[in-house]
Amino acid sequence: MQFLATAAFGLEGLAAGELKRMGISATAVNGGAMFEGTFEDAMRANLYLRTADRVLLVVGSFEARTFEELFEGVTALPWEQYLTKDCRFPVSGNCARSQLMSVSDCQSITKKAIVRRLQEKYHITWFEESGATIPISVTLHANQARLTIDTSGQALNRRGYRTWNGEAPLRETLASALVDLSPWRGNTPLVDPFCGTGTLLIEAAFKMSHRAPGLTRSFALEQFPYLAPGFPAIREAAKAEFNPDLIEGIRGSDIDPEAITLAKRHIVQAGLGGRIEVRVSDMRECHPREEYGVFLCNPPYGERISDRKACESLYRDLGHLLATCPGWSLSAISSHPQFERCLGRRADKKRRFYNGRLECEFMTFFSKQRPPRQSASVKEP
Ligand SMILES: C[S@@+](CC[C@H](N)C(=O)[O-])C[C@H]1O[C@@H](n2cnc3c(N)ncnc32)[C@H](O)[C@@H]1O
Repeated sequence: MQFLATAAFGLEGLAAGELKRMGISATAVNGGAMFEGTFEDAMRANLYLRTADRVLLVVGSFEARTFEELFEGVTALPWEQYLTKDCRFPVSGNCARSQLMSVSDCQSITKKAIVRRLQEKYHITWFEESGATIPISVTLHANQARLTIDTSGQALNRRGYRTWNGEAPLRETLASALVDLSPWRGNTPLVDPFCGTGTLLIEAAFKMSHRAPGLTRSFALEQFPYLAPGFPAIREAAKAEFNPDLIEGIRGSDIDPEAITLAKRHIVQAGLGGRIEVRVSDMRECHPREEYGVFLCNPPYGERISDRKACESLYRDLGHLLATCPGWSLSAISSHPQFERCLGRRADKKRRFYNGRLECEFMTFFSKQRPPRQSASVKEP
């Protein structure tokens, strides 16, 4: 079967890399990473992928410029391989740059076409839809229709630990990508001096402790009637791999006591109680005791004009902190165009991402003084 692990702009290559490290050959495409595999592979992808949003089973794709073409194309697909007589199959939709732009019409035509196909195959006229839910999606992009089954259910960034959002939290998938792209390899401390609700710290700790991000949540495919017998064993193996004792040197601070209260709750909910140190503190009070380390942060961006100046002064102070810690590198994401100027240094590496709707740069400033070579405890992305 063919699957698409959907990923946000800029994260497609990382999602493909994660799949390859899982032993699944994958190709980065617009909107995600394509791979071929079994339902067990899809289960592993759902459990372990850190940077992807969903894992979709691609039932088929074809050109559709008219409703007739859409109906015929959907009817021709082998729905009986995936849908049982009693299952519920809600259809969601999305249209962009196509002749067919009415999402609701595309959804209802898709539903009718699937019913037509199943009526012919199962020789029944009425579908109770009382069984398991199998979510279907029809996407039209540049007149290409793609029909998929969502194997994830809730988006994969919903790891289950974040139940309260603070001010501008980072999406878990992006946070995990930033951990991967930072110079941190687990053999030096990782400090987030603007940790907010703790997303970067938690994602780093997951990585360090080999904790599958989806370990404590369920996925839509586990409810499918043709459930592959291997799913429970895959979960058990993931549970056995998680070793919180491997977590060391991950800590954060924030000036806002409410954010720290939330961070503490999230850390406990992530099963990492006592493993990550967080405290209320102004970034300007940050004086790391270790000679070497990595600052990884998502500071305020000053999107409102009134906040812009305050942010610029904060970035200048971050520059001072970096200058006084020659053994420390800094990786930061910001949409502020003057970040480097305020910090007083040009970034050694840059990458563009969207944080929600905001176009941002993820910048890395390498330490002036390199730590002695030690074996890394987290792998290169
Ligand atoms: C964009 S948010 C970080 C969100 C975080 N990554 C998360 O996932 O929740 C920026 C954070 O910087 C904090 N902050 C602002 N000024 C600060 C300062 N001077 N020192 C420390 N933290 C500060 C804010 O309280 C806010 O939580």
